[in-house]
Amino acid sequence: MQQEKTYYITTPIYYPSDNLHIGHAYTTVAADCMARFKRMQGYDVFYLTGTDEHGQKIEKAAQEKGMGVINYVDGIVSNIRKLWDKMLISNNDFIRTTEKRHEDVVQKIFQKVYDQGDIFISEYQGWYCTPCETFFIERQLVDGKCPDCGRDVELLKEESYFFNMAKYAPSLLEHIEKHPEFIQPESRRNEVINFIKNGLDDLCVSRTTFKWGIPVPFNDNHVVYVWFDALINYLSAIGYLDDEEKYHKYWPADVHLMAKDILRFHAIIWPIMLMAIGVPLPKQVFAHGWIMLEGGKMSKSKGNVVDPMVLVEKYGVDAVRYYLVKELSFGQDGFYSEEMLVNRINSDLANDLGNLISRTAAMIKRYFNGKIPAAGIHEPIDEEIKDAAFMAYQEATEKLDKLDFSGYIIAVLKLVSRVNKYIDETEPWLLARSDNHKERLAAVMYNLAESIRITLVLFAPTMPTLAEKANQQISIFDEPNNLKWEDAGKWGLCRVGSTVGKGQPLFPRIDIKSLDEVNGKKEENIKTNDKPVKAVDKEHISIEEFARLDLKVAEVIGCEKMKKADKLLILRLRVGEEERTVVSGIAQHYTPEELIGEKVVLVANLKPTKLRGVLSEGMILAASDETNVEVLFVKEVAPGNKVS
Ligand code: MSP
Repeated sequence: MQQEKTYYITTPIYYPSDNLHIGHAYTTVAADCMARFKRMQGYDVFYLTGTDEHGQKIEKAAQEKGMGVINYVDGIVSNIRKLWDKMLISNNDFIRTTEKRHEDVVQKIFQKVYDQGDIFISEYQGWYCTPCETFFIERQLVDGKCPDCGRDVELLKEESYFFNMAKYAPSLLEHIEKHPEFIQPESRRNEVINFIKNGLDDLCVSRTTFKWGIPVPFNDNHVVYVWFDALINYLSAIGYLDDEEKYHKYWPADVHLMAKDILRFHAIIWPIMLMAIGVPLPKQVFAHGWIMLEGGKMSKSKGNVVDPMVLVEKYGVDAVRYYLVKELSFGQDGFYSEEMLVNRINSDLANDLGNLISRTAAMIKRYFNGKIPAAGIHEPIDEEIKDAAFMAYQEATEKLDKLDFSGYIIAVLKLVSRVNKYIDETEPWLLARSDNHKERLAAVMYNLAESIRITLVLFAPTMPTLAEKANQQISIFDEPNNLKWEDAGKWGLCRVGSTVGKGQPLFPRIDIKSLDEVNGKKEENIKTNDKPVKAVDKEHISIEEFARLDLKVAEVIGCEKMKKADKLLILRLRVGEEERTVVSGIAQHYTPEELIGEKVVLVANLKPTKLRGVLSEGMILAASDETNVEVLFVKEVAPGNKVS
């Protein structure tokens, strides 16, 4: 029987010393994107995350709050779980290092390494950074501070157990050289090689000056060093020394994902621990960059952390996940600002993707009674769309396999933009004018629906609710929550004859009063809809005054975007026998295709005025709040009739 393909991916287990921020969310969402991608490819995926609950840092955090340590971490862990639920993280397990299943394995491994003589007792004298839980010798400090985080270090002098890492350094170097994919990206690999070549000191693996840790099995005065304890989670969670079948099914892990700050622990200490116990090494250790804020790295002590829960509540889970996955270029650092997040939502998601879907749905509704037509008459330009779709599939697959998350998003965006261009090139609204072009129009609509199907499959690992929501507008999938990756590589799977509906806008545009202000006072300046509104805010007028307005029903017979003006549409209206041109500032809320054929209310006796060189002869009525603009449509009454 063929063995099932498995894929085991991990995030670091986070310190529950405080609630997590978007930096932690980045790693977890990126790993989730990989897990979903592999599941869509048919792998049996094991996605692990969790919390690293021992050590001095956690003990201090609880003491500062005047709480018992386990009570304190229970509260934070519960918040972390809620956060991952909210962010639709699809982890298969959540390991806490205070669980017995983990503690038992740590003690057994410590005992084994001690018994074989790789751990020995001596005295530690040196410096310790509690926030990083890391030992340093004098010459490693920078201006007397922690070389990693710049904070104060404390002098330790205590009896400790040591792990002889140098013994395994040559084998590790050999492994790294033989397996170029083991440490990625490449630049980080070189850093690690240099570090090992400079010589590895014995690692202090126990502490005696505090109690919050796993006791060393043969000496109660010592607790196991928190990193020695934490790294073992990757084995204990899959049943090492307990559930042989599960362990052999998933180990070696396919990838340990983390930021560069903790690469050394994963690329040096962890492999050496594994070598010491005779366990094969993980296939890959991948270090991404940091999400930075303008003032530098995010940290609680600087008070500049960004709460992902708040962002998800404000902008929706798909949009926040999309932003995170796109934000860090392969291996590089990136900057976060709410302004950039909003810009991405507006440009990539509302303008490009959302509009593509709603325009296509509106056209299928208008031209084919809302049913996706069969493929009709083919033209050479259609090949370009097919090729673009296949290229997006290939490139997205390749980039994801390399954990190049932003590269993957860019590959899919290229398709979205090519398809938007296809609409402009094929001009369906012109084809719709004559029945002779009906078959060609059908082909264009089919190709659009098909490209959208492929786009939605490709975006599914990042935006897990997108396909289902889009399906309400343009019903392409039988099972939008059960998509197969390989279907994005095929052309022609779209459901012909299935109906399109209105659905909710997928990504409503977010209006920002002033981008500068947003940087200063984020929360208040992103407009929301919940301000109280008064019923009347102008002076009374008489019925005669109202009667001076000449309001007429008008049919939109043509519509196009004003060149070089994001917000303006030029509408051609039929009002009875007469035709009028009206310039309207609704381009960010309606596409020309959504308006052509609709009947609107025209203020017919408004004084004509030139807008960007076009004479606007009147104005159409629309209702608006701070985010939405809705044109008032008339259903049955014919153009030219009065509105009063
Ligand atoms: N507990 C250890 C990990 C043990 S793993 C066996 C730890 N925890 S942590 O809470 O400090 O998490 C560090 C990790 O959180 C980083 O490696 C990274 O994955 C993520 N990030 C934290 N801040 C981040 C950014 N500003 N940007 C990107 N990732 C960040 O270290």
